[in-house]
Amino acid sequence: PKLEMFVDKLPRLKKIQVSDGKQLTLGAYKIKQKLHRDLPPTTLYAYGATAQTASYPGPTLEAIKDRPAHVRWENHIHDKDHMFKVDPTVMWANPKQKGVPTVTHLHGAEVASVYDGYPDAWFTASGEHGRAYTTQNYTYPNSQQPTMLWYHDHTFGITRLNILSGLTGLYIIRPKTKLPSWMPHKNYEVTLLLQDKALYANGSINFPTVGLSLDNHPHWCPEYFGDTILVNGKAWPFLVVKPRKYRFRLVNAGNARVYELSLSTPKTSFVQIGTDGGLLEHPMTLEMITVAPAERVDFIIDFSLVAGEDVILHNSALVPYPDGDPIFTPPSTRSLMMFKVKKFDADDSPNSPAIPQTLREADPVVSTEHALLRTHTMIEMADKDDFPTGSLLSNLTWMDPVTETPYLGSTEIWEFINLTPDAHPMHIHLIKFKVLNLQPFNLTLYEEGGCHRFEEHYRGPGSCISEGSIAPMVNHLGWKDTVVALPGHVTRLVLRWTPEYGGEFPFDATAKPGYLWHCHILDHEDNDMMRPIQVLRRL
Ligand code: C2O
Ligand code: CU
Repeated sequence: PKLEMFVDKLPRLKKIQVSDGKQLTLGAYKIKQKLHRDLPPTTLYAYGATAQTASYPGPTLEAIKDRPAHVRWENHIHDKDHMFKVDPTVMWANPKQKGVPTVTHLHGAEVASVYDGYPDAWFTASGEHGRAYTTQNYTYPNSQQPTMLWYHDHTFGITRLNILSGLTGLYIIRPKTKLPSWMPHKNYEVTLLLQDKALYANGSINFPTVGLSLDNHPHWCPEYFGDTILVNGKAWPFLVVKPRKYRFRLVNAGNARVYELSLSTPKTSFVQIGTDGGLLEHPMTLEMITVAPAERVDFIIDFSLVAGEDVILHNSALVPYPDGDPIFTPPSTRSLMMFKVKKFDADDSPNSPAIPQTLREADPVVSTEHALLRTHTMIEMADKDDFPTGSLLSNLTWMDPVTETPYLGSTEIWEFINLTPDAHPMHIHLIKFKVLNLQPFNLTLYEEGGCHRFEEHYRGPGSCISEGSIAPMVNHLGWKDTVVALPGHVTRLVLRWTPEYGGEFPFDATAKPGYLWHCHILDHEDNDMMRPIQVLRRL
């Protein structure tokens, strides 16, 4: 349907305080909710404390640093079959008694593995569960740096269906101390959860049921792109703002779409102050911010420079992301929302003070001298007609034995050698990391066999790789838990296997089920672009 843009108010998401020592129960429910003024209500799966209050996105959970939160996750979806077509050729939870399995992962949380929402720890409304299920009562320590996380479904093989259906929400860890005066807060702090969906005129979600490679995966599509952009559950909403600074905390909760955020006016810009893992050391003034699935950006816009104007938040993604192919980015995906900036009013409180050049203490220098190097390739497979059938990490599937067994406290360097034509947002559970550098290579030469195969030996004479490395890109900076591995590049990360647990590790690092790492294009992670991690304690 052709829907008018900027006619619905941006929903301000409901907040629930979770660091109060009490247990919060959040269930997954089937609901109906209006996604646009001119659309009938859409059937969704969504989180809520009760069936009546369940919403898409779910409530924003607000925690305080170092004060644990206790959340009981329930499943009240009584559908026999999923609202979307499950592809049984893609390995999945597959409950015997039917039903819609769910399990919730708090993305970016530094948490014991039994509370991490392992894909095989799913459960259904009728009480069936996966092999890694132990409990539905989760504890989040909140001892990591304050930042915005997000919770979402992580069920084995149907994460793409469950998140698209609405099973997602935000989670903020707030500092114990008072915020500095330059930081816009309260009404001037706005959270934004982006998701692209394709919708039918009756309001229901269009999820394709015919795959590209019919013999291999009759219903699995390599990437889901919707032509309707939803922000906090409304299509192209507007937000009325005062002519002052606002802080925005944004997550891309879509299946596959990469955004390049920009503003419709050159008079003001973004000042990025944080990433996935918390504040940046130094703010960055940017005209464009790239945000791939699961990445978070924390930025300030000063609307005092555009008082009385309408400012559109645009998406200009096309290059360098091959996923930004024009057929997937029709004009409707090039606008996200509108800010309607009020005129100056004598009653307005003054604008917040200037953003300082240093936002937090510098990170200690980490020595990589004894770091273990793990090299991972990404390859795309195709059927005999050249239709993609999936991508793999180092040629291994989810069910292959664990190969990543880092020691707790150790430092590792991970290399992603992306041999596919796509950008893959790679996510590692339990810890945050930094990007060390990138190294371009000649993909064409590699494909033609004109140089050594990476799997065997990609350094030294006859290799495809360029000499020397280049600095991380702007959207690689800061603490990350998800990072885009660009095609034709080696992306090198430094990982410290030292989750922030307040100096203690009140969990058994050798316990099953463990953790995982995967591509956060949901259609990829569901089809084996996902691998386990077992963190070991040095004896
Ligand atoms: Cu946001 Cu393993 O996921
Ligand atoms: Cu991918």
